[in-house]
Amino acid sequence: MVKRILVINGPNLNMLGIREPEIYGRMTYAELERFIRAAAREANLEVELFQSNHEGALIDAIQGAHGRMDGIIINAGAYTHTSIALLDALQSVALPAAEVHLSNLEAREDFRRPSYVRAACGYSVMGRGAEGYRLALQWLKQQLINNEGKI
Ligand code: DQA
Repeated sequence: MVKRILVINGPNLNMLGIREPEIYGRMTYAELERFIRAAAREANLEVELFQSNHEGALIDAIQGAHGRMDGIIINAGAYTHTSIALLDALQSVALPAAEVHLSNLEAREDFRRPSYVRAACGYSVMGRGAEGYRLALQWLKQQLINNEGKI
């Protein structure tokens, strides 16, 4: 059975391409979705993509993955640095999870350094742009292989 990964993008990521291109690049959110779908096809994984600007909607999406999805990739945007509720949601469903950031948080403002969601993520990638999502998919695939011997 093909494994299913939920890819969650949080607030303002729908503004990619318009938003601070010197930091986030010129790829639009629609292009990012196409990139992720292509990377998933390459890895023989199924992806479901979800974007919301609302913390509660992100929590609902994580909870909805329980029993339905095999792993989660999350770029929680600014909620990364504020949301214990998102961390709790990830810990509740206890699926293998990977954290992605387009920009390099280490090279930006101090308030972007802490990540609450990271405590629930076995893998974290930042500063690699869209490529980070491909790396996260590959890491999740390896996790699922390790957990099951094969997929
Ligand atoms: C981001 C980094 C966050 O600090 C910021 O609030 C975002 C995007 C990134 O992908 O680099 O919205 O998660």
